[in-house]
Amino acid sequence: MLLGTQRVNSRGHLEVGGCDTVDLARRFGTPLYVIDEATVRANCRSYRAAFESRYPRTDVSFAGKAFLTTAMARLVAQEGLGLDVASAGELYTAIKADFPAEKLLFHGNNKSAAELELAFQYNVGRIVVDNFHELAMLAAMARDKKSSRKILLRVAPGVDPHTHRLIRTGQEDTKFGFNIKNGDALSAVRQALEAAPHIQLAGIHCHIGSQLLDASTHVEAIDVMVGFIRSLKDATGWSAQELDIGGGLGIRYLAEQLPPTLDDFATTVIASLKDAFARYDVDEPALLLEPGRSIVGEAGLTLYTIGAIKTVPIPEDPGQRIYVAIDGGMSDNPRPQLYESVYSALVASKATLPADTVATIAGKHCETDILIWNTPIAEPKPGDVLAVQSTGAYNYAMASNYNRFTKPACVFVLDGQADLVSERETLDDVVRLDRVPERLWT
Ligand SMILES: Cc1ncc(COP(=O)(O)O)c(C=O)c1O
Repeated sequence: MLLGTQRVNSRGHLEVGGCDTVDLARRFGTPLYVIDEATVRANCRSYRAAFESRYPRTDVSFAGKAFLTTAMARLVAQEGLGLDVASAGELYTAIKADFPAEKLLFHGNNKSAAELELAFQYNVGRIVVDNFHELAMLAAMARDKKSSRKILLRVAPGVDPHTHRLIRTGQEDTKFGFNIKNGDALSAVRQALEAAPHIQLAGIHCHIGSQLLDASTHVEAIDVMVGFIRSLKDATGWSAQELDIGGGLGIRYLAEQLPPTLDDFATTVIASLKDAFARYDVDEPALLLEPGRSIVGEAGLTLYTIGAIKTVPIPEDPGQRIYVAIDGGMSDNPRPQLYESVYSALVASKATLPADTVATIAGKHCETDILIWNTPIAEPKPGDVLAVQSTGAYNYAMASNYNRFTKPACVFVLDGQADLVSERETLDDVVRLDRVPERLWT
């Protein structure tokens, strides 16, 4: 499975963005996150083209939770997308990148007063309000400041996407958003309208889940959301000017996973929107989307160095398991542990050799942090560079210092050039924030 600009070069090595991955590993060390800039840009452009050509009043924002550094925020700004931020840290990154404030959406199911203050300070374009506590806090702040904030209300449409239970977000039983069924969402709309002009209610938002490999749950959610817009008009006279349908489109972690193309996805989504607008007789709102994984996921790979290799007997076929240990693991990619996520890998320096060794790729943490079970790769040797595919989303973003590991570096590669966008942490970084009370030195 070669993704984006990946190819096998004349040395038989995996190349991405015109850079030999074995050279990248030598130059920057491992583990190393590598982002294929041309592919990220192509995905941004394809999203915009696919939706804007079918529904001109579309605004696509990148969901920064998937992968955010200051350089990524700059790239997103250059491509003309908005940016969804979900914490003070993500917002601060956008600010440091000079990201246009009016194109920021501020998310979160428990925003603090300090986070909302930051949103006022930087004039964030839209705040996506999740709950009554936040709505009251925001309205009071806006009144005190004699100012006004544009908001969307996040609602739970009550649809159940068929994806891992920990990445479902739009079902009835969720911590996210206002419930439609129990009347909370309608009450929230009334409260927001009463808080005008300090609160400008622009529309409603939903996000149903992630890694969805077809558009069927989006279609279900669109029906619920547009039906809800109709019922709001009937109950309050208010017409939503904006409808945000979140992100959620899946990617290829394995060759056999086949998400729809962006054109096919847009065709289905826009057809179902137009159909719902006509059926429910509602004025067409502007459409907002917030893809994360499908913009950056396939554009990323992680390079590791292979170390210890062990063969152990097992009762089932083929009677043995080959553990191939790499120099990272759950601190740079916790997703297999969190969601039983699957990945594919190849030995970067042996990209033309047959993948005839079934290996289990093990991390080096004090847990059974298996990155990939039983995956075919070329015969591995200590010192080989292993490339794990499709790690662009929710890997760098979810990295930790477990076992006091240093977080890996991240590079953007483009046309043969590799640029650091996040430096590797040093051992001094690991202890930088430690403090030792005097009595412990005696
Ligand atoms: C509110 C919201 N928008 C967008 C996204 C991005 O989703 P994805 O990466 O699946 O496109 C998420 C992911 O959790 C989210 O919670």
